[in-house]
This record gives sequence, C-alpha cells and structure tokens, in this order.
Amino acid sequence: MTMTRTQVAIVGGGPAGLMLSHLLHRSGIECVVVDNRTVEEIRTTHRAGILERDSVRLLAETGVYETGHERVITHGDRHGGIYLRFGGGSHHIDFEELVGASVWLYPQTAVFVDVHAARTRDGGDLRYGITDTAVHDLDTDRPRVTYADLDGRAHEVTADLVVGADGSRSLCRDHVEARSRYFREYPFAWFGILCEAPRSAPELIYTRSDRGFALISQRTDTVQRMYFQCDPAEEASAWSDDRIWSELQARLSGPDGFELEEGPVIERTVLPFRSFVQTPMRSGRLLLAGDAAHTVPPTGAKGLNLALADTRVLAEVIERAIGKGDLDALDAYTDRALQRVWKAQHFSYWMTTMLHRAPGQQEHRDFDELRQLGELTSLVSSEAGATYLAEGYTGWPTA
Ligand code: PHB
Repeated sequence: MTMTRTQVAIVGGGPAGLMLSHLLHRSGIECVVVDNRTVEEIRTTHRAGILERDSVRLLAETGVYETGHERVITHGDRHGGIYLRFGGGSHHIDFEELVGASVWLYPQTAVFVDVHAARTRDGGDLRYGITDTAVHDLDTDRPRVTYADLDGRAHEVTADLVVGADGSRSLCRDHVEARSRYFREYPFAWFGILCEAPRSAPELIYTRSDRGFALISQRTDTVQRMYFQCDPAEEASAWSDDRIWSELQARLSGPDGFELEEGPVIERTVLPFRSFVQTPMRSGRLLLAGDAAHTVPPTGAKGLNLALADTRVLAEVIERAIGKGDLDALDAYTDRALQRVWKAQHFSYWMTTMLHRAPGQQEHRDFDELRQLGELTSLVSSEAGATYLAEGYTGWPTA
C-alpha cells in the first residue's frame, strides 16, 4: 500500500476538480487529484461549448496560461449574442447591447486540456486511469481516499478535506449527510451530432419548431455541433446522415429560405436531460462541486459554468478553513454556491420549456405551442424580456 498525506484530496479530475486544484495550488495548499477515467477519455468526451464572461475571466486571470498566451482568448470565439428562431424567422438577441457582455465558444474539452496542462506544468499530483476509488473516515479529522492502480497496487491518500468533483454519477454524493434532493425529469432528450461542415450562421441558433427544438452550435471553421430534441429512448445508431439532415433542415426551415450547411456526421449521441440539486453540498470534511451536487438541462450551457463558479467559492472557503485551522469557514459554501445554482436551474428550465415541444394531449399541446410563440414574441420585442435572457446567458456577475 502506498500512502500519501496531503491537505485536500479531490475525487474527479475533470475541469472542476482540476480548476479547484489549480486555485488551491496558487494559495499554497497541497492537493492530490484522482480520477477513474484516463486523460484521453476525458479529452475526447464532447460536452457543451459556451463559457460565461466570468468563466473566461477565471481561466484567463488566474494563471492557467503563461501571460500573453491565454488560449481561451486567442482560440475561443467571442459571441456577442444568439439567434432565437421561431415562426419561420430568426431574431438576434444582442448581449453586448443589452448587458455589455458576451460569451465565448470554447468547448469543455479545451478547458480540460488547458487546465490539465497548467497543473502538469506546475507539478500537480494528478492520478488518472485508476480503479476502485472509495472514500473513508469522513467523520474523523483524517478522511481517506483509497484506490488501486492498473497493476492492482493499493494506494491511500489521507487529507484534511475531501472534495467530490466526480460528476453526475458521483460516488462522493452518497456520503453527504442530511441530504435533500430535488429533481425534475423531462420527457425528451437531445440528439447531438458533430459534423464536418462550414458554419451556418455567425452565432448560435436556438430554434423552436413544430417538430421540436434544435440548436445549431459550432466548434471550428470546419466542424460544427448541432442538437435536436428527441425521445430519450432514441437509438443514435438508427439515424443515417440523410435522416439527421432532413430532420434538422425541417426544424430550421421557414419562409426566409434559411438552410443549414451540411456535411458528414462524425459523431452522434443521445444526451440525458434532467435538473437535479442536492443540498447541503457539504458534510463535515467532504464537499461537493459541479455535477456531483447539481445538474442542469443543457439548454443554455450552464453546467460547466456552474462547476467553475463552485470552484471559485470553494477555493476561497478552503483557504480560509485551512489558513485559520477553522472548519467553520466551510459553512458558507452551500448557501453561496446554491444561490447561483438555483438561478441557473431556473434559467435552464425556462429556456428548455420555452423552446421544446412537450408530448401530451393534443389540446394541451396546441395551447402550449401558441403560448410558447407568445412568450418568444414578447421576448424578442421587449428590451426587458431580452435583457433577462442576455443577463442569464452571459452569467450573473460573481458576488
Ligand atoms: C454546445 O456547443 O455544445 C452547446 C452550446 C449551447 C448550449 C448547449 C450546448 O446551450
């Protein structure tokens, strides 16, 4: 058995776990990051692609990059707005004009690569591709994380604090006591594709159509990311390229003659869809961050942004707790983090229900569809309505 003593053991080496370890390292706090997945697995798992203004700042201004080489700025695409498309036309929501902010198209995989490179450069203790991770003794002042490496050797990391940044299938979550769990399930999912094609528009298009929602996002000049609402039981492999394109074109088409740029589909997946919050996000010496504590539906791309916002608050309270040797500093974490989480839960739910087609009785559906059009029309014709969208999408300023 190999034994390591550290200050903070972080379970989960995705963007949240890595960003937390980066921030703690900058404050002189030692940590060890463990993750069952390999770096390659995380690097090639496609997730959402939009960063709020403060997420970009967190990356660009905390020493993730060597000064002057901020990849998020040089390689990301700044988007000053989005298009809402419904009733056969597109309507631009101008974030810059409404709230003086923009977002950045910079995929989660790129965030992971950048923060991973920073931790490696700074000598971080990162242990990927392990198995049998377990947490122990969380109600003592010496909590432990154990795991086995691929050769079957046992390892133990003893720490002052354990952080579960281990995603929506978190193993740490079940160890947080006195929990309340809030759920919202949706009767649909997203069919996501990556395709080789030029951009169809300068910014993202969120579409409501009688056939259901569609989102036209981007990755590079030659690779695009798109989604359309589907049944949760849909088999991704049952969809040929032709079938995908005719469904997407049908959802985007309208009297303005708009057409998507098409190309070979290089990846297809059906993405799960639900809202979830667990509270508290801490018990004793165990704290949860990101998807381990809360998930949002992908409409509005809040998941990674919330996880990064958690790490900012968490790094601050951990610094205080360890600096003063006083665990009471951790008490503020749940309430501070959840304030933003519930705003984002509402925002994601609101965007979802405004744009998706709910299955159900025909007469209710007719009512809902016309109601949605009423809501969208009032949004694009009212500065007050559009400003709420702009503020939520670009992210509420960090307190
Ligand atoms: C993406 O590019 O993957 C993306 C963008 C915006 C969303 C969701 C996903 O709301």
